[in-house]
Amino acid sequence: QNLYFSFLLTQYPIQVLLIFAKEDNQSNGFWWACDRAGYRCNVAWTLESALECFLDKHQEIIVIDHRNSKYFDQFMENTSVTACYNELVQIEHGEVRSQFKLRACNAVFTALDHCQEAVEITSEDHVIQYVNPAFERMMGYCKGELIGKELTELPKSDRNSADLLDNINTFIKKGKVKSGSYKCKNRRKDSVDVKSITSQSSDAPSLQTRRYSSMARIHSMTIEAPITKVINIINAAQENSPITVAEALDRVLEILRTTELYSPQLGTKDEDPHTSDLVGGLMNDGLRRLSGNEYVFSKNMNLSHTHLPVPNTINDVPPCIAQLLDNEESWDFNIFELEAVTNKRPLVYLGLKVFARFGVSEFLNCSEATLRAWLQVIEANYHSTNSYHNSTHAADVLHATAFFLGKERVKGSLDHLDEVAALIAATIHDVDHPGRTNSFLCNAGSELAVLYNDTAVLESHHTALAFQLTMKDSKYNIFKNIDRNRYRTLRQAIIDMVLATEMTKHFEHVNKFVNSINKPMSESSDTECTANIKNFPDNQTLIKRMMIKCADVANPCRPLELCIEWAGRISEEYFAQTDEEKRQGLPVVMPVFDRNTCSIPKSQISFIDYFITDMFDAWDAFAHLPVLMQHLANNYKHWKTLDDLKCKSLRLPSENNN
Ligand SMILES: *[C@@H]1O[C@H](CO)[C@@H](O)[C@H](O)[C@H]1NC(C)=O
Ligand SMILES: *[C@@H]1O[C@H](CO)[C@@H](O)[C@H](O)[C@H]1NC(C)=O
Ligand SMILES: *[C@@H]1O[C@H](CO)[C@@H](O)[C@H](O)[C@H]1NC(C)=O
Ligand SMILES: *[C@@H]1O[C@H](CO)[C@@H](O)[C@H](O)[C@H]1NC(C)=O
Ligand SMILES: *[C@@H]1O[C@H](CO)[C@@H](O)[C@H](O)[C@H]1NC(C)=O
Ligand SMILES: *[C@@H]1O[C@H](CO)[C@@H](O)[C@H](O)[C@H]1NC(C)=O
Ligand SMILES: *[C@@H]1O[C@H](CO)[C@@H](O)[C@H](O)[C@H]1NC(C)=O
Repeated sequence: QNLYFSFLLTQYPIQVLLIFAKEDNQSNGFWWACDRAGYRCNVAWTLESALECFLDKHQEIIVIDHRNSKYFDQFMENTSVTACYNELVQIEHGEVRSQFKLRACNAVFTALDHCQEAVEITSEDHVIQYVNPAFERMMGYCKGELIGKELTELPKSDRNSADLLDNINTFIKKGKVKSGSYKCKNRRKDSVDVKSITSQSSDAPSLQTRRYSSMARIHSMTIEAPITKVINIINAAQENSPITVAEALDRVLEILRTTELYSPQLGTKDEDPHTSDLVGGLMNDGLRRLSGNEYVFSKNMNLSHTHLPVPNTINDVPPCIAQLLDNEESWDFNIFELEAVTNKRPLVYLGLKVFARFGVSEFLNCSEATLRAWLQVIEANYHSTNSYHNSTHAADVLHATAFFLGKERVKGSLDHLDEVAALIAATIHDVDHPGRTNSFLCNAGSELAVLYNDTAVLESHHTALAFQLTMKDSKYNIFKNIDRNRYRTLRQAIIDMVLATEMTKHFEHVNKFVNSINKPMSESSDTECTANIKNFPDNQTLIKRMMIKCADVANPCRPLELCIEWAGRISEEYFAQTDEEKRQGLPVVMPVFDRNTCSIPKSQISFIDYFITDMFDAWDAFAHLPVLMQHLANNYKHWKTLDDLKCKSLRLPSENNN
């Protein structure tokens, strides 16, 4: 599953709740006004659903239909979309934004008060406006003595600069501060430094520096997940706590790191509004049309066998294909050539090769013929009419997964069962994908969305269908010869990985990986840690999830030409969705993906900034992937160059015959 949202970086969509007794021109006016303003809109037609919606989601603006009440005096009835739009935008720029600022302000000062690092805020002329307790401790002065003064006034100093670092050095020299108690961390600066390292493609930095910079960025991760903040705060509190408290906090950390805190079964309805906004932005499933147009979904499993000759074993594939596949272990392998030379059957051929390399049929105790038949059935159930989510994407994800499994750290952390599960999960992970997003299916009231309660609709379907197909006929049942326990463990692992490709849980997966894998590893020696992981199935699960997530969205880390082709395909698929939404009068879920206006470079830049950079930093710090990180930097530069030149397409016009 792949998602691009370019508006997220600038502003999260405002949530609006419309409470109306019935659908009429006024409610429609507000509905379309929200659409125009880019707000997320829910409508409640009954008191019950209004209450449910209100409790369920954090709303910034609520419009209540008071027309039958004599107290109505806010907004004069006016069904023009412009009037509704003006009203809503006025509310946003007035009350909503000042509420945001107030809340942000409170949050920032609370955080600063508890922060371990010394922080001061000065006016432009260096007069101190605020210091936090850590700063007071470090300086040996209290708030009252500092605020309103210039830092340079306090001690006799021959420096004029109020630059904090200089002053602190001065203090340290004077013996006022113990050097050990001062920590300086500047997040912004860190990431700027790193950016300038990774984007210099011509003189690649030494591996050591590069790995260090990935690690440095992990420690200053910009993701705003509450769990990271919580863990940091607890870590900080532990430093100054008596041993009993510190031990209790250890247990708290343990729970935070290992429990499915966010899983819906646990009923975490009242999670941080910030998180739900983020998640809401990733997977907009709130908009629902009551009189929905049914979206016709291919319900039929495609069991028809391909008419193309398919090899019986890996040993009798045509030489041109075999030759191409010789290069399959390289990250720069060209999957599009395989697509062309196999007549759109890349998954069967790559699958045969890769599954043989990892001893899958030995593990499953099944014949290669069964495996081949299974691969054929799975591939036949990918829609070749999708411009992105067809079997070439599946083959690409399988390729990336196999590549990751070959990395020493990954290999050392996982068991053979995990490898087999990962390869199967990659193969099936988007099977029968309709070329539309989850939010589209929810809005269109599709049968599947109803079946899966609008939750992880596609991912649940891919998994369920894959197992149904596999069980349908023993000719291609690759699980028929393994015992029940092994099957259950394998099945569990496969399901977990496919569901992990769903983007609403993106930040949760990445954060858990960083906290449970990257951070402990950076604190201890290599061999100790890898050995450790084998004893902790929970950690293995985190690694497998991260692996398939990275494989699923690895397009920006491929060589430039491949990256460009993928960007073209995903954009086309999203354009087609927007076209259909307009045709059917459905809400447009990704307005930026309009073929008439979209800037593909911008959408790629946002996607990389928002989802890719942090995730691949974390994965690289674990698996060590210099080639990918180099491509990522190059590709990013490509999109930046196009964007700077205001070019909206995949290439500069001069390169278009490429
Ligand atoms: C909505 O407006 C149209 C004209 O714009 C009008 O013909 C129609 O009667 C209105 N419907 C209602 C329910 O007010
Ligand atoms: C409705 O709003 C529009 C745009 O603000 C305005 O031109 C129009 O006069 C208003 N109509 C009524 C009936 O107030
Ligand atoms: C492998 O499968 C065959 C049936 O095809 C069975 O007879 C045999 O016992 C299995 N071997 C193992 C090691 O499970
Ligand atoms: C089933 O797969 C075959 C071979 O890939 C394809 O030609 C056919 O159109 C597919 N049928 C459906 C209903 O998707
Ligand atoms: C995937 O879609 C592309 C169009 O973007 C098409 O050229 C290609 O043949 C399709 N591949 C398969 C395996 O269906
Ligand atoms: C959908 O929701 C209903 C009612 O809460 C529940 O009984 C059912 O198990 C859910 N189905 C799925 C697939 O989650
Ligand atoms: C794995 O999990 C355990 C317990 O949850 C944890 O203590 C350990 O640090 C984790 N990470 C690694 C890299 O072993």
